[in-house]
Amino acid sequence: MKRSRSLSKTIFVGISVAYLAGAGCGKPPTPGTVAPKTTVADAKALHAKHCGACHGENGNGEGPGSRSLWPKARNFRRESFRLVSTKNQIPSVEDVETVIRRGMPGTSMKAFDTLSQNERIALAKHVLELQRAGLRETIIEQARTEQENIDDSVVQRIVDWRTTPSGRATLPEFGDSTADSIRRGRALYLQSGCPSCHGDDGVGRSKVYLYDESRRPTRARDLQHEPFKGGHGRISIALRIRLGMPGTPHPSSPLLSESQLVDLVHYCHSLSHEPKLDLTGFQRRSLATGQEYLKSLGRAAHQ
Ligand code: HEC
Ligand code: HEC
Repeated sequence: MKRSRSLSKTIFVGISVAYLAGAGCGKPPTPGTVAPKTTVADAKALHAKHCGACHGENGNGEGPGSRSLWPKARNFRRESFRLVSTKNQIPSVEDVETVIRRGMPGTSMKAFDTLSQNERIALAKHVLELQRAGLRETIIEQARTEQENIDDSVVQRIVDWRTTPSGRATLPEFGDSTADSIRRGRALYLQSGCPSCHGDDGVGRSKVYLYDESRRPTRARDLQHEPFKGGHGRISIALRIRLGMPGTPHPSSPLLSESQLVDLVHYCHSLSHEPKLDLTGFQRRSLATGQEYLKSLGRAAHQ
């Protein structure tokens, strides 16, 4: 059984990147350490009942209800999760349970707050199992494409490395915002490249064409009028700024000091207006794939 150099290289580079991006200490995190205990018996049935219509029974994002959605339902098997709280940006059971409990405002992912916490935890674990199964398939497919054999134990090791969350990112205390802190936050917002996507005023009408990891057109959030997917709490805004939103063009900002992060969070929080825009999927799609975008591809209809 021979493994090609190129495949081994891809895999081990992948491992070291995941490793370096992780806790930054000398040992990999132990798989399963963050999973809280739960007694719910049949997560698969719960998933089929509450989630499969959009996410598909096997989690590939192709449920019958998903066709008309914008953004589309997440493909758990192939795509990244946006709302993460861990240093290595790998979702923990808590991260997924929080999404299930609160939903993702401004999208069709609604809050499943009527399910019990045990049910949500069981669902979160099930979703993460689907993610692991998808990653396993991808690795095996890649090996097949490169016409190489790959040992099952190696596949398992990679899957563990890529799906094991590190500890939670540490955040500073935010306290109440002051006019000075918001002013400093505004200066940081301008200096940190945020306007290139969100515009000077946060409304995000910039002319850049953005795509998500699946090459679907997307666009920066209007920070004044649209709901935030993680909600408007300061902790959530801080996590999105510090860790980015994996799978989208919104970047992480690991180099901001704690006091800079506090100021930037206060500024983003201060931009937020109520009531929020309540766009339909069609409106969201039109904004992301409007004529400007089609023109850029040379596909706009002749006027
Ligand atoms: C009506 C359609 C719909 C249903 C039903 C639905 N979802 Fe979603 N879900 C979505 C959409 C759309 C997204 C992607 C939102 C985005 O990317 O902004 C999503 C995203 C997610 C994510 C990704 C979170 C992240 O951090 O990126 C998870 C996890 C998730 N859903 C779990 C579930 C679970 C579990 C259920 C069942 C209890 C469920 N969803 C039911 C539409 C749905
Ligand atoms: C390369 C373009 C780009 C840059 C630069 C960028 N963002 Fe974003 N941002 C996005 C996109 C795209 C989204 C929406 C992602 C999604 O929901 O799929 C987003 C979403 C957000 C959100 C909403 C979070 C939520 O919970 O929905 C906040 C807040 C935000 N950005 C703040 C910032 C700040 C502050 C900066 C500068 C440090 C910044 N962004 C830089 C593209 C960008």
